[in-house]
Amino acid sequence: MPDTVRVPNDLDSFWMPFTASRWFKDNPRLIHKAEGCYYTSVDGKTLFDGTGGLWCCNAGHAHPRITEAIQRQAADLDFAHNFNQGHPVAFEAAARVTGLAPGFDHVFFTNSGSESVDTALKIALAYHHHRGEGQRRMLVGREKAYHGINFGGLSVGGLGLNKGQFGTLYPATAHLRHTSLPENAFSRGMPEKGADLADDLQRLCDLHGGHTIAAVIVEPVSGAGGVYPPPKGYLERLREICDNHGILLIFDEVITGFGRTGNAFAYQSFGVKPDLITCAKGMTNATVPMGGVLVTKEVREAFLSGPAKMPDLFHGYTYSGHPLASAACIATLDVYRDEGFFENAAAMAAPWEDMLHSLKNLPGVVDIRNYGIVGAVQLETKGAVGDAGRAAYEGLWEKGLIARPVGDSLCLSPPLTITKDQIEEIGSKLRHQLSG
Ligand SMILES: Cc1ncc(COP(=O)(O)O)c(C=O)c1O
Repeated sequence: MPDTVRVPNDLDSFWMPFTASRWFKDNPRLIHKAEGCYYTSVDGKTLFDGTGGLWCCNAGHAHPRITEAIQRQAADLDFAHNFNQGHPVAFEAAARVTGLAPGFDHVFFTNSGSESVDTALKIALAYHHHRGEGQRRMLVGREKAYHGINFGGLSVGGLGLNKGQFGTLYPATAHLRHTSLPENAFSRGMPEKGADLADDLQRLCDLHGGHTIAAVIVEPVSGAGGVYPPPKGYLERLREICDNHGILLIFDEVITGFGRTGNAFAYQSFGVKPDLITCAKGMTNATVPMGGVLVTKEVREAFLSGPAKMPDLFHGYTYSGHPLASAACIATLDVYRDEGFFENAAAMAAPWEDMLHSLKNLPGVVDIRNYGIVGAVQLETKGAVGDAGRAAYEGLWEKGLIARPVGDSLCLSPPLTITKDQIEEIGSKLRHQLSG
């Protein structure tokens, strides 16, 4: 290791998130620098950031305009809270975010995707309460879904390993089946089959009574569960069933928000409008933690019927609308607009799809999925689930590419700044790894 990069200690004190700590410590992979699409590890290796941080650095790393905005804000106003007082920069950030989402007039700020999901679920419950429908207590999620790790998001989430250690969670939940169908393997973009899986929601309405269900939450393109674009017609059908039964539809756009599908939000790409949207990650290009829940006018107005001196919603975080996060958000949205990164994502979606599907006949590849600038290459399971994915991740690191293994799927979500040459760079590293 070059002595210019100090590794501070035995790496034991930091209890790392979602990490097999003993595996990590066998061969610690440590990054100390980032610029554009590339990281540098402490041992001097250049790595293509094929996961855009963790689906969040949409403008690439260390964009000078975002860095400067954060520095300036820290010097001007480091912190002021927003409980019955406020600061202009949070209001500016809110208007900029809602400005990207026609039909959504308000945003509630949080600090992460997990907090956004729990906030959205609470807003849904409270919305029905305010409208005299307090019997709507059931929250519906979907198998394979990832909605973060707080109690609500975990309850509606659909990844068993994440839930198993924690018991009952929120008691009134039900789950739709996932949309991963073998007959859809190697679909380019949205798969043809599976719209009828949305009828699971109708079955839950028949079973429990549609009038007992508060909300259904889905990722428009599921991400952390392994990248599953929605089957054609699926989201439309969910919307229709929600409308028939007065159920709120929540799109969890923590990954898809801020350009990943070629539009600001995926609901625009799919032409299906939910009632609430959760977002985070790309909102500040991941520089300062920030998330949000976007709501329609109709949802917001349900909260304005109580006494004027009472809080509309008994919910909020010390750091909701933090000045640094707000400044980072405004600068990030400026960069996305001025440098046309959403448009670039739309333009690069076809070369991205072509590159991924060119890997189809390589040994051990059993499925490839993609939408916008997100994709997954699923490998044949060999040994325990996850072994093949982990081995490929390790091999790719050595070849200078970071991918995210989810089970045996290698997930990719590079910065939206990506060029054709860089797509080919990712492709050639994947080809090298998978051919070996
Ligand atoms: C769809 C979705 N929702 C929620 C989350 C949780 O976000 P965070 O890790 O910021 O809490 C994630 C994180 O990947 C996500 O993909």
